[in-house]
Amino acid sequence: MKTVVITGATSGIGLETVRLLTEEGFHVLGIGRSAMNCKRAKEHISSHNPNARIVFFQADLMQQRDVLRVAEDIMAYLDEKSGGQLHALINNAGCVRSWYMTTEEGYEQQFALNHLAGFLLTHKLLPALQKARGRVIMTGSASHKGIKIRWDDVMLRRRYNPLTAYKQSKLCNILFAKGLNDRFAHSGIRAYVVDPGLVKTDIGNKETGSLVNLIWSLRKRAGVPPEIPAKTYAFLCRQEPAPEGLYYRHCKEKKYSGQVTRENADRLFALSERLCGLCDDTARQERTKAV
Ligand SMILES: NC(=O)c1ccc[n+]([C@@H]2O[C@H](COP(=O)([O-])OP(=O)(O)OC[C@H]3O[C@@H](n4cnc5c(N)ncnc54)[C@H](OP(=O)(O)O)[C@@H]3O)[C@@H](O)[C@H]2O)c1
Repeated sequence: MKTVVITGATSGIGLETVRLLTEEGFHVLGIGRSAMNCKRAKEHISSHNPNARIVFFQADLMQQRDVLRVAEDIMAYLDEKSGGQLHALINNAGCVRSWYMTTEEGYEQQFALNHLAGFLLTHKLLPALQKARGRVIMTGSASHKGIKIRWDDVMLRRRYNPLTAYKQSKLCNILFAKGLNDRFAHSGIRAYVVDPGLVKTDIGNKETGSLVNLIWSLRKRAGVPPEIPAKTYAFLCRQEPAPEGLYYRHCKEKKYSGQVTRENADRLFALSERLCGLCDDTARQERTKAV
């Protein structure tokens, strides 16, 4: 049985993807930010399919120490239950913010959760992915088009615009997927981005101000149900041989921004390694400089 890890597994697109993947026979390890939401999500999945193989791990992925802890727990679990192999990792957890808010490390929260958390988790689960010649899937968004990475102020500290921060984090998702393919495709790992379209979820109603809350409440009415994008994640997990494309919507390859270049992907990879403390000491100094 193939094992899939998915973040943001307790609601919206992630929860529906868990339901579909367990129905298709995958063994799913869901990550959720609170124990209560994990319990609720597990009950939801089991009520649809009492035979579902689903385990939840709790972690606040906004905090790097929690990403590291849950990655260790998952590696131990994989060693015990699936020969240390991970077939797919879905980096789906995400947030929207109305104001400049930071994590324990002092990182802007949308950048930290929507990009860095997935970057660090992938890095830590890489040995298990390599063993299975696995797949890494990011949840992107069409909103990545039309913007560039603000290399001189990646956290947008000088002039914060929450929508720009969100769009930039979604551009990072594709650059990261490209960076993974450039580095690891030769060893059998494939990385993808799913563009879910506009989906009726509560993302804009969580920890946002009243204006964003109102706008999202109106906007999401035009969205599709999470069942629609969930099919694309299941397609990318199931398809053999692994599809060759990068950016998918409705189970088909789509065009993405011209900003997705090798140079930008390499630059983001190096910056993210530094911000996640994955390099040496000079890097740690850079880490402080970058925020
Ligand atoms: N909805 C859309 O139209 C749309 C369009 C394009 C892309 N997306 C992307 O789709 C992904 C899923 O979003 P969604 O629309 O399904 O919204 P959602 O239902 O709010 O899902 C977000 C998930 O991330 C989890 N999460 C939030 N903060 C976290 C933290 N600090 N630590 C761990 N997990 C955390 C949430 O946990 P809780 O359940 O505890 O809140 C939830 O499970 C996001 O990456 C989003 O950017 C959405």
